[in-house]
Amino acid sequence: MVKIISLAKRRGFIFQSSEIYGGFGSCYDFGPLGVEMKNNIKRLWWDEMTKNHENIVGLDAAILMSPKVWQASGHLTAGFADELVECKNCHKRFRADEIAKGWVFGKCPECGGGLIKPRKFNLMMKTFVGSVEDEASQTYLRAETCQGIYINFENVLNSMRLRIPFGIAQIGKAFRNEITPKDFIFRIREFEQMEMQWFCQPKEVEKYFDYWKEERIRWYQVLGIKKENLRIREIPAKERAHYAQRQIDIEYKFPFGWREIEGIHNRGDWDLSNHSRYSGKDLRYFDEKTKKRYFPYIVETSVGVERLLLAFLCDAYEEIPGGRTKTTKPTKEVEILLKLDKRVVPIKIAVLPLVRNKLELVKKAKEVYQLLKPHFVCQYDELGSIGRRYRRMDEIGCPFVLTVDFESLKKEDLTIRDRDTMKQERVKIKDLIRILKEKLDV
Ligand code: GAP
Repeated sequence: MVKIISLAKRRGFIFQSSEIYGGFGSCYDFGPLGVEMKNNIKRLWWDEMTKNHENIVGLDAAILMSPKVWQASGHLTAGFADELVECKNCHKRFRADEIAKGWVFGKCPECGGGLIKPRKFNLMMKTFVGSVEDEASQTYLRAETCQGIYINFENVLNSMRLRIPFGIAQIGKAFRNEITPKDFIFRIREFEQMEMQWFCQPKEVEKYFDYWKEERIRWYQVLGIKKENLRIREIPAKERAHYAQRQIDIEYKFPFGWREIEGIHNRGDWDLSNHSRYSGKDLRYFDEKTKKRYFPYIVETSVGVERLLLAFLCDAYEEIPGGRTKTTKPTKEVEILLKLDKRVVPIKIAVLPLVRNKLELVKKAKEVYQLLKPHFVCQYDELGSIGRRYRRMDEIGCPFVLTVDFESLKKEDLTIRDRDTMKQERVKIKDLIRILKEKLDV
């Protein structure tokens, strides 16, 4: 894990938030490569939901909502709380389940001191709206994005003239005051969720639950995550979220163990019936055929962008002691290769002049870079030996590296190096955009 954290910082994927002030508890910033990768993940999920499936529309609801939303959803009660234990000696706090899992029970893992009895700690983050910080102006940063979907259920249904079954998809920030967050960006306090709520007839909920379970696990494999690193865990009743009648977690085998990356929940009519009760607005669906009203059941798919990005990085990370080049003697160096799917990878193309002390080569390479920049996320790199630059690009997973050499000046062509095979092919510059679009499948 340390190696992935180091790569993420060194190459501009992920930085600790407020680093110059000593860091800020479990918040992270995404650098130039991190933001490209996050955008790719979000775009792929959005397209999967709204284009590749039937009857799913999008929404972008506000982060701030009436505090009544959170009363109705059950998030302000014990249901959305972790058990916390505190050390009597050093006063550090830990999640009770983690103490029970790995550490000596009843002892502080930091100083060995005695622990006070576990108590509930609510994860909602409070904030204030307006100019007076009193009870009346208090609300919460949303802890899950889907509540914005439920409170807009009727607006979306009517404005889009939808018929059940249908889905509403949303991507956005969520906030949780996690206790002792750890494992890098796995458990953080500010994160993004990609959530889809599928509204269906109660009698069809099991069918759609199974459908979405299969679809979601398939999606990860389509994007290159290794099958052996994915598994499904059926969550027993006592561990389920307070709203879930059935819950499965899609788990990924991180270097620190199997952990959830996505939750699939049968939320029954928990949300719509509670929002009806608390708001006084009847959110039942009117069935034209039977002329009856009922609360649709909801199958939810929910995945965190950062957690998924971490899974992609872990899955793609490879180390090759001595390097991959067979034509030269193996060096002592360990080469890093990030075998990310080309749709997920942040930088798609790198343009390099063979050497940087030949003005004509630099000029031509810069021309090629300018030609490709409007079409692909590209990087121009002239620093260091060509071998070093190839390795730098392998390390960030760049699938295609273009090299402008002396022949290029005569023949108006260049070489394309494939990240995985390291094979090079010569292509004419005039054909580049078409060829690269084919290779990248865009
Ligand atoms: N609306 C349902 C819901 O929020 P969840 O299991 O609490 O369910 C869903 O969260 C997903 O959101 C998780 O599988 C994970 O990918 C992501 N997630 C939740 N808490 C997170 C945190 N503190 N840091 C990063 N990602 C988180």
